[in-house]
Amino acid sequence: MASDFTVTQRQQLLVQEKVGKILNTLIGASPGTKDLLLELWYERHIEFLNAGLKQLGPGYSVLDANRPWLCYWIIHSIALLGDSVDDELEDRAIDFLSRCQDTNGGYGGGPGQIPHLATTYAAVNTLITIGGEKALSSINRDKMHMFLLRMKDPSGAFRMHDAGEMDVRACYTAISVASILNILDYELVQNVGNYILSCQTYEGGIAGEPGSEAHGGYTFCGLAAMILINEADRMDLPSLVDWVAFRQGVEGGFQGRTNKLVDGCYSFWQGGVLVLIQRMSSIIDKQLKVSHIEDEKLSMKHTCESADNSSEEESSTEGYLYQDRTIPSFKDCGSSFIKESIDWGPLFNCAALQQYILLCCQVLEGGFKDKPGKARDHYHTCYCLSGLSVCQYSSSKDLGVTPPPNAVLGPCCNLLERVHPLYNVVLERYQDAHEYYYIS
Ligand code: FPP
Ligand code: ZN
Repeated sequence: MASDFTVTQRQQLLVQEKVGKILNTLIGASPGTKDLLLELWYERHIEFLNAGLKQLGPGYSVLDANRPWLCYWIIHSIALLGDSVDDELEDRAIDFLSRCQDTNGGYGGGPGQIPHLATTYAAVNTLITIGGEKALSSINRDKMHMFLLRMKDPSGAFRMHDAGEMDVRACYTAISVASILNILDYELVQNVGNYILSCQTYEGGIAGEPGSEAHGGYTFCGLAAMILINEADRMDLPSLVDWVAFRQGVEGGFQGRTNKLVDGCYSFWQGGVLVLIQRMSSIIDKQLKVSHIEDEKLSMKHTCESADNSSEEESSTEGYLYQDRTIPSFKDCGSSFIKESIDWGPLFNCAALQQYILLCCQVLEGGFKDKPGKARDHYHTCYCLSGLSVCQYSSSKDLGVTPPPNAVLGPCCNLLERVHPLYNVVLERYQDAHEYYYIS
């Protein structure tokens, strides 16, 4: 390889070479062989996931403050595969998470650990995925509301834990939990949109905090939170779409940020953003129309200015679309959002992404990894499967409808369960929880 390449370029070329070799196995293969190569190995994934739920080796001690995450990554993956955990293990998971619940609300990374917004999100999503009276009633919603208020900074943003860091991830996890549990109110929502808005960068994506680099993980968190508080129309959506769409690379998978390597977990973080955007065509059309009118006004202004300087006052008095906006209602946005019609087809190459996930991230012994050469783990298993599901349903307009066969790469039995893209829980489990917390 030429020595005048930068380290980053060399790493990129190496990944492309490895991925290229794997994807080439499909060229000239018969449909039957292709189906074999692209098969999802259900049984092995279920085995890997169940084993992790029962016992993990000493290498996992570094994840001691992330035990509710392990529950979520594993139990959500099993649900995506259309299976469920056996009753005894489910019971143990509920009891374990109850021991992580703080007496003053929220969940810590393990029993006795301080409550943290990330592990709170993981615990709540796990309990919703398990479902049923015991799991759903185990969450102390009054105390949760108090915990979320305690995490709220006077600026409007949220902190991950008492005196902890403030970022877009904290905003999303707080809003997601409050929304799904039906405890979202104006006190929690106030000014959080301003903070997220201040994190949208010149590239179009969203950074973790103001002034940082746009990243897929934070872009998902920022956009999903803005939708849940009904303020997504305040963002520059055309530039956001542009940034995310260009993060899909020649490998078929997504990178997390500009000039970085492809990684299977971004199948959900970035693919999920584009799936959310598919339901926002009317807002984007409106923004494009406004910017088109503004461009026209600007060019007219320049033309007039060169002919007659007196036109300046008239142009500068033009109002902006958001100046007289009233505070939007955020009641049950999570439920109304998925009922919005989808006017657009998929906004990324879904077949290429499925190909990357199935051929380059899937591990023969079960589980998924970031990219060829890496080891499998539960985090990548969860987000590769979530991304795969998002691809499979990205051309299904109606919620209850099975996707057309050509939307599912490989044999049709590769079809996974559908997720609610704002919370990343299996849609059916979300609907049961919605009935429990909102209706009954
Ligand atoms: C960069 O890692 C990773 C981050 C800066 C964090 C990403 C954020 C998320 C995945 C979202 C978390 C969401 C919730 C709900 C808590 P890196 O530098 O190793 O990776 P890169 O090279 O791919 O950018
Ligand atoms: Zn990753």
